[in-house]
Amino acid sequence: MQIGQVAVVGAGTMGSSIAVAMVGGGLKVLLKETEQAFLDKGLANVDRFLAGKVKKGILTEAEAAEQRALITPVLDYERFSEVDFVVEAAPESLAIKQKIFEDLDQWCHVEAILATNTSSLSISQIANFTRRADKVVGMHFFNPAHIMKLVEVIPGLETSHDTVKTALELAEHLGKLGVRVEECASFLVNRLLGRYMNESLFALQDHGAGAVEAIDKVVQDYVMPIGPLALRDMNGADIGLAVANFNYLEYGERFAVPQVLPAMVANNMLGVKTQAGFYSYDDSRKKQGVNPALEGILAQLPDSGGAAGSGVGKIEAESMFLPMINEAFLVMQERICQPEDLDPALMAGLGMRQGPLAIAAQIGLKECLERLEARFAAGQERFRPAPLLKRFVFAGRASVI
Ligand SMILES: NC(=O)c1ccc[n+]([C@@H]2O[C@H](COP(=O)([O-])OP(=O)(O)OC[C@H]3O[C@@H](n4cnc5c(N)ncnc54)[C@H](O)[C@@H]3O)[C@@H](O)[C@H]2O)c1
Repeated sequence: MQIGQVAVVGAGTMGSSIAVAMVGGGLKVLLKETEQAFLDKGLANVDRFLAGKVKKGILTEAEAAEQRALITPVLDYERFSEVDFVVEAAPESLAIKQKIFEDLDQWCHVEAILATNTSSLSISQIANFTRRADKVVGMHFFNPAHIMKLVEVIPGLETSHDTVKTALELAEHLGKLGVRVEECASFLVNRLLGRYMNESLFALQDHGAGAVEAIDKVVQDYVMPIGPLALRDMNGADIGLAVANFNYLEYGERFAVPQVLPAMVANNMLGVKTQAGFYSYDDSRKKQGVNPALEGILAQLPDSGGAAGSGVGKIEAESMFLPMINEAFLVMQERICQPEDLDPALMAGLGMRQGPLAIAAQIGLKECLERLEARFAAGQERFRPAPLLKRFVFAGRASVI
């Protein structure tokens, strides 16, 4: 399908950066909000993102102005009959998205594709709010969308092959890596990220507040652009807890929520936004060192400060990635994505220098399995080895790809 004009619904954090990604691909964009004040705020973000590209030498002033002129701000759906592709980036509420998809279905021409940027809601359920479920698809951009390379393209139960193909082509046109991901809670990248983020907190519970910097440093030195605890502080412990609870509800015990997370939320240690998280932050959001209050929080947890937690003997990066590696095998077993897409998706989505399958091959699949089995035998459900990993080991395979 040829895409002429597109629309973005919602000009918040994601909508404004998705609009910038779209105009970067030369596409005309209708950017819709509910109120002029929100539109103004979104357009200020757009201007800031484009100015950032000029500053980095990616665009000239003239090119930035040309791209800015491609965006038409709107407060209603009057002109939506002109667009071929919509990305909805409104708040993560099913009720809000229901109303938007019902409206889009009425206003957009019958061939138009309606994509949602939801992080956690069901694509199939959102599609069911329209009479064109075959043309509804998940298009999950990463924050900030005009910079991050990955777009997960998620079909619902009724989504047609052509719709998926068009969404993948659009991602490619925007210079992104589009990866088809089957519908599952948290999709591919955030599902694997969740296992790793939880594991860093179990390691913290085992080793105590003195280990904060060491935990961040070992994984940063290994494959990550930022340590997990610094990342949690950036995104906020409240958001982290909501995501962790959601994954636990969907997947059960292997996504058990580390107790330090609700304890931090209860104590308003949300990270950068409250200037207190694993680290302390000054008024200009600059990191000041480990938060002295963390020790007290950890001391109050029933099973902190001893070997009773994760069983991680010493702080080493490979252990921190074992649950992510195991989840990668579960994901492949469920055919959530093509195995060859898995590492590139994680690298593009999280900035990892090496994906979990490459890490697994480096550790050795047999060694991974033995480490998982040892921890599982010690009574830790989250280390129950994925059956597919066992099959690779039984088959004598050294790597997946
Ligand atoms: N923030 C992230 O890091 C991130 C990453 C990936 C996906 N997402 C998903 O993207 C979506 C948007 O998230 P966000 O962080 O940009 O939210 P946000 O709250 O920053 O922005 C949402 C915007 O939508 C507007 N809006 C509400 N109803 C509307 C309507 N009927 N028409 C037009 N605009 C409307 C709001 O005024 C607000 O400006 C959510 O589904 C979220 O789960 C967020």
